[in-house]
Amino acid sequence: MVFPEYRPRRLRRNNALRSLVRENHLSAGQLIYPLFIVPGKKVREQIVSMPGVFRLSVDQLAGEAKELLGLGITSVILFGIPEKKDGAGSGAHAKDGIVQRAIRELKSKAPELLIITDVCLCEYTDHGHCGFLINNEVDNDTTLEILAKTALSHVQAGADVVAPSDMMDGRVSEIRAALDENNHEMIPIMSYAVKYASAFYGPFRDAAECAPQFGDRRGYQMDPANSREALREATLDVDEGADILMVKPALAYLDIIAKLREEFDMPVAAYQVSGEYAMIKAAAEKGWIDGERIMRETLLSIKRAGADIIITYFAKDMAKELRGQYT
Ligand code: PBG
Repeated sequence: MVFPEYRPRRLRRNNALRSLVRENHLSAGQLIYPLFIVPGKKVREQIVSMPGVFRLSVDQLAGEAKELLGLGITSVILFGIPEKKDGAGSGAHAKDGIVQRAIRELKSKAPELLIITDVCLCEYTDHGHCGFLINNEVDNDTTLEILAKTALSHVQAGADVVAPSDMMDGRVSEIRAALDENNHEMIPIMSYAVKYASAFYGPFRDAAECAPQFGDRRGYQMDPANSREALREATLDVDEGADILMVKPALAYLDIIAKLREEFDMPVAAYQVSGEYAMIKAAAEKGWIDGERIMRETLLSIKRAGADIIITYFAKDMAKELRGQYT
């Protein structure tokens, strides 16, 4: 394969040729759209740092689900902002909690939509940390019990998949055991196996009102400098019974996605987080970049790195674009 016999440009000359030899594709069925649920009625408020993304009250969900399904998006991940927070994050597993109500509403109005729930305490604790505090430190093993209770309450309300995002050690096996003991052995766990302590979560923390009131999350989330450790984290979660492994954030961690893809034969998910979305939207609003093309290019890069599933605030925009392309 040497020039001039081989000319790579031959296969790039027109759309049809490029289509034929394209190696990676995006599809709406592999995108997951995050939903933020807030108390109240008829609430549909745009998140300032995430243009186009809204915080919705439960009564808005049926309409939202219809729009998503119409676009071919069949999965959502739910985050709740409760009325009240407390030290133990008890709103997370309340039978009538915000996420539990949202799940029941979605299940009754749009049963074909796959409901994944984020299992974490940070939206529910008054201190904003992802677990139970003892002497101002997040206590791992006490937190496990609350997380398992939370996951179980989501599933009892009708959730299809649970996604623990707290980064406590041992949470996957604790959740697996709680689900199995209650005859929910068929509910998959999508583990945020490799979650970094990242500044890219900034806009989300405003949206979900879950910024830590003191300190930061570096005592439980991973150090951005580490990659071998990602494999240890993922191995643990596989051994504990995770069904899907997630890497988060996505764009700054494509190497980690590629590593997991190589090392494990399980489905790999990647979360294109709030800061990634906000940066693209802000620069596009200023007219400094072509937002649509950068959306497509970043999502493709995540695919190319090896993710099967992508959680993204661009899901609707991307699905619309895919529609246009293929119909
Ligand atoms: C924790 C959680 C966070 C995100 C998803 N789940 C925030 C955090 O760990 O601080 C971030 C998602 C995003 O930035 O889009 N419940």
